[in-house]
Amino acid sequence: MKIDVILGLQWGDEGKGKIVDYLANKYDIVARFQGGPNAGHTLIFDNKKFVLHTVPSGIFRPNLINLIGNGVVLDPITFEKEINNLIDNHIDFEKRLLVSRKAHLILPTHRLLDAASEAAKGKEKIGSTLKGIGPTYMDKTGRNGIRVGDIESVDFLEKYNALKNKHLALASIYPSVEFDLDAEEKKWFDSLNCLKSLQLVDAEYYINEALEHGKKVLAEGAQGSMLDIDFGTYPFVTSSNTLTAGVCSGLGVAPGKIGEVIGISKAYCTRVGSGPFPSELDNETGEKLRKEGFEFGSTTGRARRCGWIDLVQLKYTIMLNGVTQIVLTKIDVLNSFDEIGVCTGYTINGKEISTVPFDINSVQIEPVITTFPGWNTTLEEAMTFSQLPNNARTLVQYLEKQLSTKIAIISTSPDRNSLVFKSEFID
Ligand code: GDP
Ligand code: IMO
Ligand code: MG
Repeated sequence: MKIDVILGLQWGDEGKGKIVDYLANKYDIVARFQGGPNAGHTLIFDNKKFVLHTVPSGIFRPNLINLIGNGVVLDPITFEKEINNLIDNHIDFEKRLLVSRKAHLILPTHRLLDAASEAAKGKEKIGSTLKGIGPTYMDKTGRNGIRVGDIESVDFLEKYNALKNKHLALASIYPSVEFDLDAEEKKWFDSLNCLKSLQLVDAEYYINEALEHGKKVLAEGAQGSMLDIDFGTYPFVTSSNTLTAGVCSGLGVAPGKIGEVIGISKAYCTRVGSGPFPSELDNETGEKLRKEGFEFGSTTGRARRCGWIDLVQLKYTIMLNGVTQIVLTKIDVLNSFDEIGVCTGYTINGKEISTVPFDINSVQIEPVITTFPGWNTTLEEAMTFSQLPNNARTLVQYLEKQLSTKIAIISTSPDRNSLVFKSEFID
């Protein structure tokens, strides 16, 4: 079997959690391959809302295995909170939640360093979620990190103290930030018991054997393609490979084993944190998108920046990921707009371009906007593509043509089941 992939095509928060949760029923295993508790994936069903940060979004589907891969960075404190929430909601997870021994641990001092490094950047700050993501991946690539499997080793405390002391020395070069290290350390060590109680596995063997035995696996991405460490709007990015390539390194599967790549895009665009956003609407229209789409961060609660959907950006991330089908989410947010914009190109110094420029951070980009008439009606009744209003169908068909990729599903509300299937999906 091949492994299918779901990932975000924009700057995160595209609605990945909802789509993974819905599609999980078609799979035996859902596996996270990168990122950490900077992610916030919202699932809404039976009038209940869950926000997952580290736990894969297949956890609410009975019998499904949920795997946290080696590419993930895990904070035992947030992880335990998520687990407690599952317990409170009577979700049986013990036999279904597996963690790779090779996933790296986020230490309290990684969070301290994240905060100190952001404080030092001042106006140039990334707008990090301050969950310790950057410093943890730095220790991973710097070959200093501590991995989940290390908690089983006899010299774990020694390793912890050595790394902590290194962090404290490093922190002294930054402005000091408020951080109660003693309290955070206590919480951290207490929460290790929860992690230890789960099944720690050599996930690369587990997943390859599962594929060999015909199991269906779905890889769940976090963040978005424009936040990728290599191809995103660097340095305003996260610290992992958020693209399809990250599935190979983050789970241990060979490139030839990648199957369908399902790219999620909102019908407009958002970004949280600093950095370039060519189609941003820093005006009343952007404010309306934020209000209608309830665009506030699932992890930090920060207001998300809003703008029109950007085809230059989407063509880039479709290319990088090898997207085979798109899920278009939050189209209902556009219900009350008289006109809907689509960014089709960038103008820089009077010259129009259709690629994402290297110097995207420093050049002045004027987005080229094509407008489409809105539909001014709700989409609650629409169960099939033909039941969508004419103007909504025209917009979807235009996007599909421009992006040369089929839009297989259109999402019309936050609820798990509000989906319109446009064309035959996967299988
Ligand atoms: P993720 O990080 O990609 O999983 O996305 P988030 O959960 O951070 O943000 C997406 C938000 O949009 C959540 O509040 C979802 O409940 C909500 N959402 C998802 N799909 C739809 C949709 O089709 N319509 C509307 N109105 N909201 C949606
Ligand atoms: P999900 O999985 C949106 C953004 C942060 C910041 C930058 C770096 O919910 O889509 P980091 O904490 O990684 O150092 O922050 O990346 N960011 C996200 N934005 N959705 C996310 O995850 C994000 N995870 C990180 O706001 O700009
Ligand atoms: Mg999110």
